[in-house]
Amino acid sequence: MPARTYKVAVLGARGLVGQWFARMLSGHPWFKLTAVTSHEAVGAKYGKSVKWVIGGSVPAEFAELELVESDPKRIDADIVFSALPTEAARKLEPEFAREGFAVVSKAAAYRLDERVPLVVPEVNPDHLQLLEAQRGSWDGLLVADPNCTTTILALPLKPVADAYGVRRVVVTTLQAASGAGYPGVPSLDLIDNVIPYIAGEEEKVRDELLKIMGSLRGGRVEWAHFEVAATCTRVPVLDGHLESVYVETEKPVDPAEAVELMRRFRGRPQELKLPTAPEAPLVVLEGEDRPQPRLDRMAGSVPGMSVAVGRVRRGPSERSLMFVALGHNLVRGAAGSALLLAELLAAEGYV
Ligand SMILES: NC(=O)c1ccc[n+]([C@@H]2O[C@H](COP(=O)([O-])OP(=O)(O)OC[C@H]3O[C@@H](n4cnc5c(N)ncnc54)[C@H](OP(=O)(O)O)[C@@H]3O)[C@@H](O)[C@H]2O)c1
Repeated sequence: MPARTYKVAVLGARGLVGQWFARMLSGHPWFKLTAVTSHEAVGAKYGKSVKWVIGGSVPAEFAELELVESDPKRIDADIVFSALPTEAARKLEPEFAREGFAVVSKAAAYRLDERVPLVVPEVNPDHLQLLEAQRGSWDGLLVADPNCTTTILALPLKPVADAYGVRRVVVTTLQAASGAGYPGVPSLDLIDNVIPYIAGEEEKVRDELLKIMGSLRGGRVEWAHFEVAATCTRVPVLDGHLESVYVETEKPVDPAEAVELMRRFRGRPQELKLPTAPEAPLVVLEGEDRPQPRLDRMAGSVPGMSVAVGRVRRGPSERSLMFVALGHNLVRGAAGSALLLAELLAAEGYV
């Protein structure tokens, strides 16, 4: 456990992910939110200018923070959480890393960069060793948190891959409206409808999953070799991405054993008892009509930090498994996972 507390900043604090960061940082035992940034409301008080849409209200201790520009010279912090749009992140995140900040990014800009670890803390914490490759690039560090859909898929896939090996993953997603940020998809496009395409998402799921499930060799990540086919759709659900998953395995699968492996699955955050780590990263539900976004998106001992899994069953051959996974895109898929990653960095002595 770290012997100190850390000052943290949130870049893009008025956005949906930024709001969840503020909520989850309220009362955090190690991290103290000292700076929030904006593009369009620089100079305003956070509490007055944020359009708080995630339920509840702005944490009182952050309401008086003044929004500043996303400029390293305006910020006094050890860790910077980036909830910026991709293009802004591409420009700004290296500037923060060069100035010595530890940047934990929710944006897509550097996820596939060879020097940047792309980490789900329970799945591939060893990839943090890539940070060695960043020495010489800047004084700080830059770590990427995956796309929400990828994290929700990687967690249940990990125990299956370890036990049976993976040849192919076919996934169809039903993604919540809040996945597109605020204001997101126009309501008249989404209500009473399903949009069978999310630009760039299917490529992100494939590439990020292969990087996360890859192996560290000679200071580089060798991507995993299995095949991934994703179809990503947007549905009129507020929060919670549902994913229908088919996995073709190397070895025959016993579905009852797979359920047990998922239930027993634990990772480094659970060993270290990190503050945002749920007791179990996967919650396997018995009911044949579960998981459901409205009922199960806040699964876990830290609400929203576990992926709910259901309908675990054999596929068409003995070397296949099918299941449905559901995760809160803004908690386990965004602010919560980035917070867990920063806790891991602190506990392992990287910051
Ligand atoms: N929504 C999700 O479920 C989810 C999940 C995983 C990852 N992500 C990623 O997380 C990031 C944030 O997503 P979001 O859903 O929170 O988006 P959002 O609701 O659109 O918020 C983005 C925030 O970024 C700020 N911003 C915009 N342009 C900027 C610029 N040029 N410089 C500095 N700040 C700028 C805005 O600040 P002001 O409004 O104060 O001007 C805004 O509050 C994106 O990269 C997204 O892809 C989102």
